[in-house]
Amino acid sequence: MSAHFELADYDSAADFVRAQTDRSNAAFGLAKDSTSMASEAQKPREQRLTGLVLGSGLNPLAEAIEDAIAIPFERIPHFPTSTVTGHEGQLIVGQLAGQTVVAMQGRIHLYEGYTTEEITFPIRVMRRLGVETLILTNAAGGLNPNFHAGDLMLIVDHMDFVGMAGHNPLRGPNIPSFGTRFPSMTEAYTPFLRRLALDTARNLDISLRQGVYAYVAGPNFETPAEVRFLRLVGADAVGMSTVPETLVGMHAGMRVLGISTITDEAIDQLDTDRETSHEEILKTGKAVVPQLTQLLIGILERL
Ligand code: HPA
Repeated sequence: MSAHFELADYDSAADFVRAQTDRSNAAFGLAKDSTSMASEAQKPREQRLTGLVLGSGLNPLAEAIEDAIAIPFERIPHFPTSTVTGHEGQLIVGQLAGQTVVAMQGRIHLYEGYTTEEITFPIRVMRRLGVETLILTNAAGGLNPNFHAGDLMLIVDHMDFVGMAGHNPLRGPNIPSFGTRFPSMTEAYTPFLRRLALDTARNLDISLRQGVYAYVAGPNFETPAEVRFLRLVGADAVGMSTVPETLVGMHAGMRVLGISTITDEAIDQLDTDRETSHEEILKTGKAVVPQLTQLLIGILERL
C-alpha cells in the first residue's frame, strides 16, 4: 500500500504558510486552529477566506491580489511542484475584492506524475488555514456543439472518469477531521455559488454557459471516438483537472465553484486537418482572461 498523508502533514504545511504571512504583519486571519473550521460561517466577512485555483494563463488575476505574499510551492512542506511551462507555481495570500484569498497560481496535474492525493494536498492545506469557499478555474475542450473557443462555462456537475478508474484522492484511510468516509456528490458545485455566478455574469453582461465537465487524466488529448463518446454520455466539456480538487474540497465541507474556459472545440472526426495544441489553449485562455477576471472579482465582491 502506498503511503498516505496524515493530518500532521497538512498542518505542517499550513503552519509554514501561516508563519510566512504572520511575518508580514498582514492581518490575514488565517485560522490558528482546527476549531475555526466549523465556525467559519459566523466570521465577519473580512475574516473569511476564499481559496482560488488559477488555471493556465490567469496570471493577471494573481497580479491583482493586493498586499500579496507569494510562496513558491517548492518551499512549502509536502507541496507538489509544477512541471508544465505556462503553469506558475506559487501560493499567494492577499486581498482581492475585499476578501482574503489564498490562491494557487498554477496547479498540479495528475499527468505530471504525482498521485491524485499529492495534487490535492494544497486544497486540504487551504482548509486547515480556514478556507471555506473554493473557486476552481480551468481550461477545457468544448464537447457541446453549441460551445465555442473563448466561451466561459459554469461547471454544474462532473463525470470523474479518472476516479471511476480508481484514482480518487479520497482513497486510503479517511481523515475524519476533514470529512466523512462516503461523501455525497449530489451537489458537488454549491447551488448558492452557481446562482451567484450566473447572477453576477448577467449583471456584468458576460455570457456564462452551463455544463457538465468530464475529467480525464491526459496528457494526450482525446481521440475523435473518445470525444464522441463523452458527448454521447452527456458531457459538455472535457479537461485534465479540477475534479480531484472538487472532491477533496467537498469532502472537507468547503463550498465549491468551478468555471471552465472553453479553449478549443474538441475534434470529433478523423481525417481533418485540425489539431488541438497546448499553444492554442494558452492563446485562447489568455484572450478570455479579462472577462474571467471581471467575473471572478464580481463574484468575490458578493461573497
Ligand atoms: N481536452 C482535454 N483537456 C483540455 C482540452 C481538451 O480538448 N482543452 C483544454 N484542456
